[in-house]
Amino acid sequence: MNDSTNLKLVSRADWGEADGKKVYLYTLTNKNGMVVTITNYGGVVTSWTMPDKNNNKGNIVLGFNELKGYQAPPPYFGALIGRYGNRIANGKFTLDGKEYKLATNNDKNHLHGGNKGFDKVVWDATPSTDSSALTLNYLSKDGEEGYPGNLKVTVKYTLTDNDELRIVYDAETDKATPVNLTNHSYFNLTGDVSNNILNHSLSIDADRYTPVDKTLIPTGELKAVSGTPFDFKTSKLIGTDIGKVPGGYDHNFVLNGTSGSMRKVAVLSDSTSGRQLTVFTTEPGLQFYSGNFLDGKLQTSDGKSINKHTGLCLETQHFPDSPNKPAFPSTILKPGEKYHTETTYAVAVVK
Ligand code: BGC
Repeated sequence: MNDSTNLKLVSRADWGEADGKKVYLYTLTNKNGMVVTITNYGGVVTSWTMPDKNNNKGNIVLGFNELKGYQAPPPYFGALIGRYGNRIANGKFTLDGKEYKLATNNDKNHLHGGNKGFDKVVWDATPSTDSSALTLNYLSKDGEEGYPGNLKVTVKYTLTDNDELRIVYDAETDKATPVNLTNHSYFNLTGDVSNNILNHSLSIDADRYTPVDKTLIPTGELKAVSGTPFDFKTSKLIGTDIGKVPGGYDHNFVLNGTSGSMRKVAVLSDSTSGRQLTVFTTEPGLQFYSGNFLDGKLQTSDGKSINKHTGLCLETQHFPDSPNKPAFPSTILKPGEKYHTETTYAVAVVK
């Protein structure tokens, strides 16, 4: 039936103001009653509500229900990350013979785009003409956080009727620049931050990972996961080997298969709730971060402390510090080229 009077639109609520611009909260819904809320502040996915195996609804991502939570110093809950996801060593890189200095906001390194990354800016938002999608645009000006070139970025979120959140990232520049965009959602499939994620099972389709130094910069080696705590080739509980990884998991996995083509790269599941998350991406890497720096200081809107390991990130990306690692897949976007990556987070209930 094509009855336009029944057409459901993306709803929009006022959510405050930042940088003199209006901030809104948009609600995407699908035919199964799944609900994802996204704000144009930082392009943050603030909640994703889905049923569990007993049909009880719960929010599977960490977030706040007020703008001010996101304006405070970051754990980057749900945010779009750019211009460069993860770290660049010493906040420096050389491109075409010129050295660029970036903001150093993580000790001596640059992290997630700097002091005011794409997670802290107000994006222009265009909802679709049905309830399913939101397109966000941002112009990152030449010199922002030290990066060269005006970078025009478009990110489109779509909630499909197959219970997938598709994220399509596009960008163009007028000067060569590193670009590495991702989304920083923290998942907790139990829907309750009183539970940590150590009893979630995870598989990652990666034979290798990029070991890091003490400041979490890759050493450059692509190391086999076999026989190490990083072996997630077959599903295992996150808690199984986490004690053998100092600090917890915060590592980039070198995904198998052809980068540039969409493929299934990870499956996360929680047997108590029956909820399952499958990640598909065109990217060559995946940062598995087990929420090691969450320390109980932040609280959810219902007053529960967000403790260590109460959420985990599966950030699809190019490898950290690629601008200083010529052997890693290139992250340099040149004028005339089109940056295009896609990631889909698909959820299901397994009974
Ligand atoms: C990084 C962590 C960092 C976290 C910020 C992750 O992507 O790999 O080291 O602490 O983001 O919340």
